Amino acid sequence: MTRMDRVVKNGRVYFDGRLQNVDLWIMDGKIADLGGTHSAEETIDARGKIVLPGAIDIHVHFRDPGYTHKEDWETGSTSAVAGGVTTVVDQPNTAPPTWDERSYRTKLEIAERRSVVDFCLNGGPGQVKKLAALGASAIGEIFTYDHEDDELQKILNETAKSGLLPTIHAEDLEVIRENTEPLRDRREPELYSMARPNRAEAKAIENILEMTERVHICHLSTSEGLELVRAAKKKGKKVSCEVAPHHLLFTKRDWRRQGTFLKMNPPLRDFKDKDALWEGLRKGDIDVVASDHAPHLPEEKKDDIWDAPPGVPGVETMLPLMLMAVRSNLLSLDRMVDALSRRPAKILGLASKGRIAVGMDADLAIFDPRAASDIRADRLHSGAEWTPYEGRRALFPAITMIRGEVIYADGERVAKPGFGRNIPGPGLKRVVRTSLEE
Ligand code: DOR
Repeated sequence: MTRMDRVVKNGRVYFDGRLQNVDLWIMDGKIADLGGTHSAEETIDARGKIVLPGAIDIHVHFRDPGYTHKEDWETGSTSAVAGGVTTVVDQPNTAPPTWDERSYRTKLEIAERRSVVDFCLNGGPGQVKKLAALGASAIGEIFTYDHEDDELQKILNETAKSGLLPTIHAEDLEVIRENTEPLRDRREPELYSMARPNRAEAKAIENILEMTERVHICHLSTSEGLELVRAAKKKGKKVSCEVAPHHLLFTKRDWRRQGTFLKMNPPLRDFKDKDALWEGLRKGDIDVVASDHAPHLPEEKKDDIWDAPPGVPGVETMLPLMLMAVRSNLLSLDRMVDALSRRPAKILGLASKGRIAVGMDADLAIFDPRAASDIRADRLHSGAEWTPYEGRRALFPAITMIRGEVIYADGERVAKPGFGRNIPGPGLKRVVRTSLEE
């Protein structure tokens, strides 16, 4: 019997592939025992609740620095923990873009001061070697349409040499150009799906798979893209991929209801794509669900279809919506936990995250399964101040814990900005870490 810091008592805890009635003991931020008889300084009563590993969202755009009128590290990370997300991976398309040492250090300093959630920072396709040494977790998302093929090949080679994973936004510029041109004078929102057809994604994925052995495909949206990933995996390529909740939950038909607010890249697709994505996710061919949380303000989203910025917010609603999908038998609980926690940790090599097991960080999302509610933008925490999921049923966490601390409980953020810690990537040089910690 040991004196522990904290115990989560009487809950149904998800580990070893199922929910089990055990007490979860925490010491020094880690899960110290599952079951067993100990005493603790503090008890969290989880009677009637389920205890899941916190979600790891490997694709968020927190906009800080540069676009903090849309989101900053405090609002973005609060939104994350309010949705049961305990680690995020921030993307480099901030301003200045996170492509070199200076911008990386600037973002790291802001995030360390303001984030409530644990975080990784991706580097952009700039000073790849330097970014790796500074602790970037991956290089990307790399927008294929921003680069000529020879340049892309160079970036991929350098990324591989630095031991980092390239993460790819796959849409082919030529296909987009060809299809956009004839539509330019028209304004109907649904044209946007025609301007960036399935072929744009498929062609870009084909191309990238020829260029590299190890790659992660962001926000897969088409059945054709999924087939290409499947075939590559069968051949033994080290390829992983993610799907965003909006491509699982919306189709072209939703243009009618939400118009330009649903503009995103890649765009809304057909029912056949949506069905294929669900099936791919169920089978595990799609490894991960990631939000592609891309906050823009309602005033901006109202603009004309060509000028409105692409993207929808989603970090806070991802796990709550996926739990409803489990409830509707669209997905098993095991696959959901795998796609939102276990596999994201594996893909990015986050050794202490993603599972409930002794020795792991006590990153937990605790839910009352009877407390489903309607999503309302005014109850969410993102600076975006709107959601494409208004009115949908969702199951939000009652409590979110990171490294054994209660961060969020009963609708309130408990932790102070600055609680969140950086989890550096595999290329971090010890000498750099020392200087960063000084
Ligand atoms: O719709 C999108 N918005 N897709 C992306 O890949 C980027 C994102 C953003 O940063 O707004």
